[in-house]
Parts: sequence; structure tokens; C-alpha cells
Amino acid sequence: SAEVKLAVFGKAGVGKSALVVRFLTKRFIWEYDPTLESTYRHQANIDDEVVNMEILDTAGQEDMLQREGHVRWGDGFIIVYDITDRGSFEEVPPLKGLLDEVKKPKSVILALVANKADLEHARQVSTEEGERLAAELACAFYECSACTGEGCVSEAFLELCREVRRR
Ligand code: GTP
Ligand code: MG
Repeated sequence: SAEVKLAVFGKAGVGKSALVVRFLTKRFIWEYDPTLESTYRHQANIDDEVVNMEILDTAGQEDMLQREGHVRWGDGFIIVYDITDRGSFEEVPPLKGLLDEVKKPKSVILALVANKADLEHARQVSTEEGERLAAELACAFYECSACTGEGCVSEAFLELCREVRRR
């Protein structure tokens, strides 16, 4: 069976842990408990192959040294921003820059996830801006909500896994 290591990055509070928990349990956690660092194992059946996924839920607050280690560890990456927090969107390009730098000369396997789509009234980043950034970064784009489950949370994880397996 195959082993795939996925790491989830993004500013503190964007909903990284909520997305991972949604993917793994189909449930949502309301309270905000800042992550130190958590790893989850999950077995998925992808295209008739058993894949052992390891998912690293990083801390938005982690320091540069920890972050570099996590990037080195991962095979595929999810960068999350919060559609109600413009600052979290602005942190995406520098994070992608770090992934490129640590992984070079290999190309980075990445999905961009715009979270909290249920909070439409508080939106600060349009869907089009998200799509445009994903096109610039040459990666898949998903707008979703860990809260309601709308917008293919599972697909983001599974499709990323598939892409890692293809390389
Ligand atoms: P750090 O671990 O500190 O880096 O934060 P995080 O990115 O893991 O954020 P976390 O998943 O803990 O979520 C932060 C807060 O946002 C929590 O109160 C969540 O309930 C809330 N939240 C996460 N996703 C959503 C969402 O899709 N919609 C709404 N309305 N709230 C969300
Ligand atoms: Mg967290």
C-alpha cells in the first residue's frame, strides 16, 4: 500500500484543524483551540488502491524552523485562507514561496483552500480573487466551509493525494 504525507498550512484561525476534523469525522468543532501540532492517520481507498494518509495539522503560530521541517516532511500541501480575513489571503504567496524554496528543484504539489464560505456576509476575498491566485500558483482551488461541509472538503484532500500518487 502507498504512503502519502500531507501538511496543512495557513495563518492562525483560518480553520486548518476544523477542515482536517471535517475530512476525518464529518463533524465540526466550534471552539477555537490553537493547535500546537497534530498528526492524523487515515486510510483511504483511492482508485482501487489502499492509501495510508498521514495528515499534519500545523500551528498557525509555528516558527520558521518548525515550518521548514514540516515542509521537508510533506509530499503534498494544502494552504488555507479564510474568506473573511484578507490578511490570511495575503499570507498565501509567501507560504508558497517557502514551499518552492525548500522543495526545489522539485515542483510543489499544492491545493489552495478558501475556508469559511458559510460566512458570506463577512466576506473580504472574492471567489474570483481566489481562483486567480490559484491559477498564478498553478494549483487546484476549493472554496468550502468546514462548518457546513459545503464545497468539497474531502475532494480537496483526496484529489491532492491522487496527485501525489501520480508523480
Ligand atoms: P491554529 O491551529 O491556531 O493555526 O488555527 P486553525 O487554522 O487550526 O483554526 P481552527 O480550525 O481552530 O478554527 C478557528 C476558529 O474558526 C474556530 O472557532 C472554528 O470553529 C472556526 N471555523 C473554522 N472553520 C470554519 C468555517 O468554515 N466556518 C465558520 N463559521 N467558522 C469556522
Ligand atoms: Mg489548528
